[in-house]
Amino acid sequence: MDAISPWKPGELLHEGAEATVTAGSWLGVPAVLKVRRPRGYRHPDLDRRLTRQRLAAEARALSRLQAIGFPSPEIMHLDQKDALILMSRVDGVPLHDLLKDGSAGRGVLEGLGALIRRLHESGISHGDLTTHNVMASGEGDLSLIDFGLSRQSPELEHLGLDLQVLNECLGASHSSIEDAIGAVCDGYLKADSGDSRSESATNVVERFRKITSRVRYHG
Ligand SMILES: Nc1ncnc2c1ncn2[C@@H]1O[C@H](COP(=O)(O)OP(=O)(O)OP(=O)(O)O)[C@@H](O)[C@H]1O
Ligand SMILES: [Mg+2]
Repeated sequence: MDAISPWKPGELLHEGAEATVTAGSWLGVPAVLKVRRPRGYRHPDLDRRLTRQRLAAEARALSRLQAIGFPSPEIMHLDQKDALILMSRVDGVPLHDLLKDGSAGRGVLEGLGALIRRLHESGISHGDLTTHNVMASGEGDLSLIDFGLSRQSPELEHLGLDLQVLNECLGASHSSIEDAIGAVCDGYLKADSGDSRSESATNVVERFRKITSRVRYHG
């Protein structure tokens, strides 16, 4: 990381399957460095292609979201060759932790639904909507992160899948909150702006329900 001398590394935030995420500062601004590492078991060519795709998808989504003032990190630096992206540090903790300790409930989940609707109306699907990829500030403001699997101009199926991925996460990790996905869907439906360029919220929720029954049926 010598190429970026303004970078001062701090604590390691996350050592994941794909990426290492380190907090620090860039030119004095709180920042986060995300580096995607090669994965030994994949063919090197495939690995490079996937890494490049994910980095490009993340950068494209973040810059579009930045342009519309959507709560997500701002890109500060991108290096395709070293598979790294530097972005602003988002305040707060993963929503996962707040839901676990009971300090967030249905109101926050409704707010999350509204935020997902706003993302979808901006013409982007997330692709990995778990509660680890939603950050919540002390004031309860939500931001979305981790756009490596996002799509531009997604099909109805991808929009429905965002809700399904979240549904599975809520069922697996937050099952003590009754009908958590119901609260998300309420927020999602209420936030429909009626903009005819997007799939309606009703259509997306309907598709989500269809996906759910498909999954249930086929196991
Ligand atoms: N901009 C940011 N501001 C604050 N924290 C962040 C930021 N980006 C990432 N993090 C923290 O690092 C964690 C991992 O980041 P991210 O979700 O982008 O990587 P990942 O792709 O999920 O890694 P994995 O390969 O495990 O899937 C997040 O859950 C969050 O806690
Ligand atoms: Mg993540």
